[in-house]
Amino acid sequence: MKQIAIFSSGTGSNAKKIIDGPFSISPVGGEVRVPPYKVSLIVCNKPEAGVLKIAEENNIPTLLIEKEKFFRGNAYTDELKTTGIDLIVLAGFLWKIPVALIKAYHGKMINIHPALLPKYGGKGMYGTFVHETVIANKEKESGITIHYVDEVYDHGQIILQATCLVSEDETPESLAKKVQVLEHRHFPPAVALLATL
Ligand code: GRF
Repeated sequence: MKQIAIFSSGTGSNAKKIIDGPFSISPVGGEVRVPPYKVSLIVCNKPEAGVLKIAEENNIPTLLIEKEKFFRGNAYTDELKTTGIDLIVLAGFLWKIPVALIKAYHGKMINIHPALLPKYGGKGMYGTFVHETVIANKEKESGITIHYVDEVYDHGQIILQATCLVSEDETPESLAKKVQVLEHRHFPPAVALLATL
Protein backbone atom coordinates (compact mmCIF):
# COMPACT_ATOMS: atom_id res chain seq x y z
CA MET A 1 0.00 0.00 0.00
CA LYS A 2 1.30 3.47 -0.96
CA GLN A 3 2.57 5.61 1.90
CA ILE A 4 1.56 9.25 1.81
CA ALA A 5 2.99 12.39 3.39
CA ILE A 6 0.57 15.29 3.68
CA PHE A 7 2.15 18.76 3.77
CA SER A 8 -0.04 21.34 5.51
CA SER A 9 0.53 24.72 7.18
CA GLY A 10 -2.97 25.31 8.52
CA THR A 11 -6.11 23.91 10.06
CA GLY A 12 -5.82 20.65 8.17
CA SER A 13 -9.46 20.04 7.30
CA ASN A 14 -8.42 18.50 3.97
CA ALA A 15 -5.74 16.44 5.68
CA LYS A 16 -8.43 15.03 7.98
CA LYS A 17 -10.66 14.07 5.05
CA ILE A 18 -7.73 12.35 3.33
CA ILE A 19 -6.83 10.48 6.54
CA ASP A 20 -10.44 9.27 6.82
CA GLY A 21 -10.39 8.25 3.15
CA PRO A 22 -12.99 8.47 0.39
CA PHE A 23 -16.26 6.77 1.17
CA SER A 24 -18.20 4.30 -0.87
CA ILE A 25 -21.57 2.72 -0.28
CA SER A 26 -21.46 -0.85 0.94
CA PRO A 27 -23.59 -3.37 -1.01
CA VAL A 28 -25.26 -4.22 2.29
CA GLY A 29 -25.91 -0.57 3.07
CA GLY A 30 -24.01 2.11 4.95
CA GLU A 31 -20.75 3.91 4.33
CA VAL A 32 -17.40 2.15 4.00
CA ARG A 33 -14.07 3.91 4.28
CA VAL A 34 -11.10 1.79 3.32
CA PRO A 35 -8.45 4.14 1.92
CA PRO A 36 -6.16 2.40 -0.59
CA TYR A 37 -3.23 4.27 0.96
CA LYS A 38 -1.72 4.99 4.34
CA VAL A 39 -1.09 8.53 5.58
CA SER A 40 2.26 7.88 7.26
CA LEU A 41 3.46 11.41 7.91
CA ILE A 42 2.19 14.96 8.36
CA VAL A 43 4.75 17.58 7.37
CA CYS A 44 4.21 21.07 8.75
CA ASN A 45 6.13 24.35 9.00
CA LYS A 46 4.09 25.97 11.81
CA PRO A 47 4.28 24.64 15.38
CA GLU A 48 0.84 26.11 16.18
CA ALA A 49 -0.98 24.69 13.13
CA GLY A 50 -4.23 22.81 13.75
CA VAL A 51 -3.12 19.99 11.47
CA LEU A 52 -0.65 18.85 14.16
CA LYS A 53 -3.52 18.18 16.55
CA ILE A 54 -5.28 16.18 13.83
CA ALA A 55 -2.09 14.16 13.37
CA GLU A 56 -1.89 13.47 17.10
CA GLU A 57 -5.54 12.42 17.32
CA ASN A 58 -4.99 10.01 14.44
CA ASN A 59 -1.64 8.66 15.69
CA ILE A 60 0.22 9.90 12.64
CA PRO A 61 3.88 10.92 13.03
CA THR A 62 4.72 14.54 12.28
CA LEU A 63 7.74 16.31 10.86
CA LEU A 64 8.10 19.98 11.77
CA ILE A 65 10.37 21.41 9.11
CA GLU A 66 12.85 24.29 9.33
CA LYS A 67 13.11 26.99 6.69
CA GLU A 68 16.91 26.90 6.36
CA LYS A 69 17.05 23.17 5.82
CA PHE A 70 14.04 23.16 3.49
CA PHE A 71 15.28 25.87 1.17
CA ARG A 72 19.06 25.49 1.36
CA GLY A 73 19.50 21.84 2.20
CA ASN A 74 18.06 18.77 0.53
CA ALA A 75 14.48 19.89 1.28
CA TYR A 76 14.10 16.79 3.50
CA THR A 77 14.18 14.55 0.41
CA ASP A 78 16.41 11.95 2.08
CA GLU A 79 14.24 11.80 5.20
CA LEU A 80 11.07 11.33 3.14
CA LYS A 81 12.63 8.64 0.95
CA THR A 82 14.11 6.80 3.95
CA THR A 83 10.73 6.87 5.71
CA GLY A 84 9.30 5.13 2.63
CA ILE A 85 7.06 7.97 1.47
CA ASP A 86 5.72 7.17 -2.02
CA LEU A 87 3.44 10.16 -2.59
CA ILE A 88 3.28 13.75 -1.38
CA VAL A 89 -0.02 15.57 -1.04
CA LEU A 90 0.06 19.34 -0.56
CA ALA A 91 -3.05 20.41 1.33
CA GLY A 92 -2.72 24.06 2.26
CA PHE A 93 1.06 24.13 2.42
CA LEU A 94 2.20 27.72 1.93
CA TRP A 95 5.95 27.43 1.22
CA LYS A 96 7.08 27.00 -2.36
CA ILE A 97 8.41 23.46 -2.90
CA PRO A 98 12.15 23.39 -3.71
CA VAL A 99 13.14 21.91 -7.08
CA ALA A 100 15.13 19.06 -5.43
CA LEU A 101 11.97 17.72 -3.80
CA ILE A 102 9.84 18.25 -6.92
CA LYS A 103 12.37 16.27 -8.99
CA ALA A 104 12.56 13.49 -6.41
CA TYR A 105 8.75 13.14 -6.45
CA HIS A 106 8.07 13.88 -10.11
CA GLY A 107 4.54 12.63 -10.94
CA LYS A 108 4.10 11.68 -7.30
CA MET A 109 3.25 15.04 -5.77
CA ILE A 110 -0.13 16.74 -6.05
CA ASN A 111 -1.63 20.01 -4.80
CA ILE A 112 -5.11 21.41 -4.33
CA HIS A 113 -5.88 25.00 -5.26
CA PRO A 114 -9.11 26.82 -4.30
CA ALA A 115 -9.86 28.22 -7.78
CA LEU A 116 -10.05 27.18 -11.40
CA LEU A 117 -6.44 27.27 -12.59
CA PRO A 118 -4.82 28.65 -14.67
CA LYS A 119 -6.80 31.64 -13.40
CA TYR A 120 -6.23 32.91 -9.87
CA GLY A 121 -3.03 31.00 -9.21
CA GLY A 122 0.56 31.95 -8.52
CA LYS A 123 2.34 33.83 -5.78
CA GLY A 124 0.07 35.57 -3.28
CA MET A 125 -3.02 33.73 -4.54
CA TYR A 126 -4.05 31.75 -1.50
CA GLY A 127 -6.89 31.66 1.01
CA THR A 128 -9.26 34.60 1.04
CA PHE A 129 -7.20 36.58 -1.53
CA VAL A 130 -8.27 34.09 -4.17
CA HIS A 131 -11.96 34.41 -3.37
CA GLU A 132 -11.81 38.23 -3.08
CA THR A 133 -10.24 38.46 -6.53
CA VAL A 134 -12.70 36.02 -8.09
CA ILE A 135 -15.62 38.11 -6.76
CA ALA A 136 -14.00 41.46 -7.70
CA ASN A 137 -13.61 40.16 -11.27
CA LYS A 138 -17.32 39.28 -11.37
CA GLU A 139 -16.67 35.65 -12.26
CA LYS A 140 -19.81 33.56 -12.63
CA GLU A 141 -18.11 30.40 -11.37
CA SER A 142 -15.19 29.29 -9.27
CA GLY A 143 -14.09 25.94 -7.89
CA ILE A 144 -11.10 23.76 -7.20
CA THR A 145 -8.15 22.38 -9.11
CA ILE A 146 -6.18 19.29 -8.16
CA HIS A 147 -2.94 19.12 -10.11
CA TYR A 148 0.51 17.59 -10.24
CA VAL A 149 3.25 19.82 -8.87
CA ASP A 150 5.98 21.00 -11.20
CA GLU A 151 8.66 23.69 -10.96
CA VAL A 152 6.22 26.52 -11.70
CA TYR A 153 3.83 27.67 -8.95
CA ASP A 154 0.24 26.36 -9.43
CA HIS A 155 1.13 25.16 -12.92
CA GLY A 156 1.48 21.35 -13.15
CA GLN A 157 -0.80 19.08 -15.16
CA ILE A 158 -4.41 19.24 -14.03
CA ILE A 159 -5.92 16.01 -12.68
CA LEU A 160 -9.39 17.26 -11.77
CA GLN A 161 -11.46 20.44 -11.57
CA ALA A 162 -14.85 20.91 -9.96
CA THR A 163 -16.94 24.06 -10.13
CA CYS A 164 -19.45 26.03 -8.09
CA LEU A 165 -21.54 29.06 -8.97
CA VAL A 166 -20.56 32.53 -7.75
CA SER A 167 -23.82 34.26 -6.87
CA GLU A 168 -24.50 38.00 -7.20
CA ASP A 169 -24.32 38.54 -3.44
CA GLU A 170 -21.35 36.19 -2.87
CA THR A 171 -18.83 37.11 -0.16
CA PRO A 172 -15.30 35.72 0.19
CA GLU A 173 -16.54 33.80 3.24
CA SER A 174 -19.54 32.23 1.50
CA LEU A 175 -17.44 31.35 -1.53
CA ALA A 176 -14.77 29.81 0.72
CA LYS A 177 -17.46 27.53 2.18
CA LYS A 178 -18.66 26.40 -1.24
CA VAL A 179 -15.10 25.73 -2.35
CA GLN A 180 -14.32 23.80 0.82
CA VAL A 181 -17.28 21.49 0.21
CA LEU A 182 -15.80 20.69 -3.22
CA GLU A 183 -12.33 20.16 -1.75
CA HIS A 184 -13.56 17.72 0.89
CA ARG A 185 -15.64 15.83 -1.66
CA HIS A 186 -13.02 15.48 -4.38
CA PHE A 187 -9.60 15.44 -2.73
CA PRO A 188 -9.76 12.01 -0.98
CA PRO A 189 -10.88 10.14 -4.15
CA ALA A 190 -8.21 11.95 -6.19
CA VAL A 191 -5.54 10.85 -3.71
CA ALA A 192 -6.94 7.31 -3.83
CA LEU A 193 -6.74 7.34 -7.61
CA LEU A 194 -3.13 8.48 -7.53
CA ALA A 195 -2.32 5.80 -4.97
CA THR A 196 -3.67 3.06 -7.19
CA LEU A 197 -1.90 4.13 -10.41
C1 GRF B 1 -7.51 24.83 1.00
O1 GRF B 1 -8.42 25.80 0.61
C2 GRF B 1 -6.61 24.50 -0.14
O2 GRF B 1 -7.21 24.65 -1.38
C3 GRF B 1 -5.52 25.52 0.00
O3 GRF B 1 -5.35 25.67 1.38
C4 GRF B 1 -6.56 25.35 2.06
C5 GRF B 1 -6.27 24.36 3.14
O4 GRF B 1 -7.31 24.24 4.05
N1 GRF B 1 -4.36 25.13 -0.76
P1 GRF B 1 -7.27 23.17 5.22
O5 GRF B 1 -6.06 23.48 6.09
O6 GRF B 1 -7.17 21.83 4.61
O7 GRF B 1 -8.54 23.37 5.97
